[in-house]
Amino acid sequence: MLPLLRRGLWGLRIRRERLLASLRFRFAKLFSRKPESTVIDGQAPLPGRFCPNPFKQIDLEESGVAFTCCSSWLPTPMGNIKHAPLEQMWNGQAMQKIRESIFDGSFRYCRHDRCPMIQNDSLPTLDEAREDPLFTKVIDERQTTLKHLPQFVNLVNDRSCNLYCPSCRTERINHTEGAVYEETAELQARLLEPYFSESNDRHFVLSITGSGDPFASRVYRDLLYNLDGSKYPNMKIALQTNGVLLTPRNWERMKGVHDNIASIIFSFDAASEETYAVTRRGGHWPTLVHNARRMGELRARGLYPLLRFDFVVQKENYREMPAFVELSRELGADRAYFSRLIDWGTWPKDRFMDQCVWEPQHPEYEDFAAVITDPLFDQPFVDLGNMTDLRNIAKQHLVHLH
Ligand SMILES: C[S@@+](CC[C@H](N)C(=O)[O-])C[C@H]1O[C@@H](n2cnc3c(N)ncnc32)[C@H](O)[C@@H]1O
Repeated sequence: MLPLLRRGLWGLRIRRERLLASLRFRFAKLFSRKPESTVIDGQAPLPGRFCPNPFKQIDLEESGVAFTCCSSWLPTPMGNIKHAPLEQMWNGQAMQKIRESIFDGSFRYCRHDRCPMIQNDSLPTLDEAREDPLFTKVIDERQTTLKHLPQFVNLVNDRSCNLYCPSCRTERINHTEGAVYEETAELQARLLEPYFSESNDRHFVLSITGSGDPFASRVYRDLLYNLDGSKYPNMKIALQTNGVLLTPRNWERMKGVHDNIASIIFSFDAASEETYAVTRRGGHWPTLVHNARRMGELRARGLYPLLRFDFVVQKENYREMPAFVELSRELGADRAYFSRLIDWGTWPKDRFMDQCVWEPQHPEYEDFAAVITDPLFDQPFVDLGNMTDLRNIAKQHLVHLH
């Protein structure tokens, strides 16, 4: 009786989600010519907290649109590098409003339910943030325009990848020539010009990439294989890859920046070959494990400072979360990181909702709750990111049940 009722409620929820999605789509179309700052209503304020991102980060997306955080977490753009240079976007109206929302504690442009720093309560307090010399004056003077350029440059401008995971895209994307490639390369060069026009000792991080793959994308690999990191001794590079192409040969090709590598993230989204074949379409499990193990060995030899393995939780893989922690340890990672699946529009709404096992109405919720409350996830080696809250809810659920 209970499972039947749950399935019935689940069906109703999916129909309601579909209706809301269609209304949102129509509404967005009406106003699509006038991009606006998106205020998210009905969220509890976070007085006394600080988020460094709007004071240090730029994400360059496809077609030159730029954000100051992951656009799923903070969906207001700062502008487009096609129409305005970096300095102008960085201190434009949108950025001033976003920074003000941090100072007034509302964080009203952020999606509190999606941001892992809000979810796992790791946002620094204003006092803690003041200890960083970059932010002391900024906070004391409540600055909404800044003299320094972004110190964290997140390249998410090319979606070219060797994989085409169902959660991420519906087809293979790889721009190696033609108009899209040319424009992507040009806009990327425009954004990076202030950083690389001449040798300098500027402190900044180049993150490549949350969009495609650093070794499949031509614009990214051209950058990585041709940069002479010794000209930018304080540049750090943060790599995020599916790992299949991080072969010994490709590692060697980017030897000009080996000393600049600050961190490497491998995305697994599985702990077995069978599940990997479903979640990471186009990948090759034995190659991934081989490359990950080798990068674990280089990490152990101190060749770079941080190796993290990632797992985006969904119905297809949640049962493998504990095995993933063990596998990450065995392969030499510093951390196993989990995050929740977000609707990137690749599935119809009901199929997406079917992946969301953390929703209490989901038919597999009891099983999910049993997995995520495993004490294994208490160890500091594990970072539950925006799953933290869901674990606390599952714990309460199990207490009520027994
Ligand atoms: C899109 S990939 C691009 C970077 C690189 N190719 C990689 O595999 O890490 C970045 C991360 O997004 C995750 N991801 C894919 N689909 C997602 C979704 N719908 N919601 C949240 N994360 C997703 C991937 O698992 C991966 O960890």
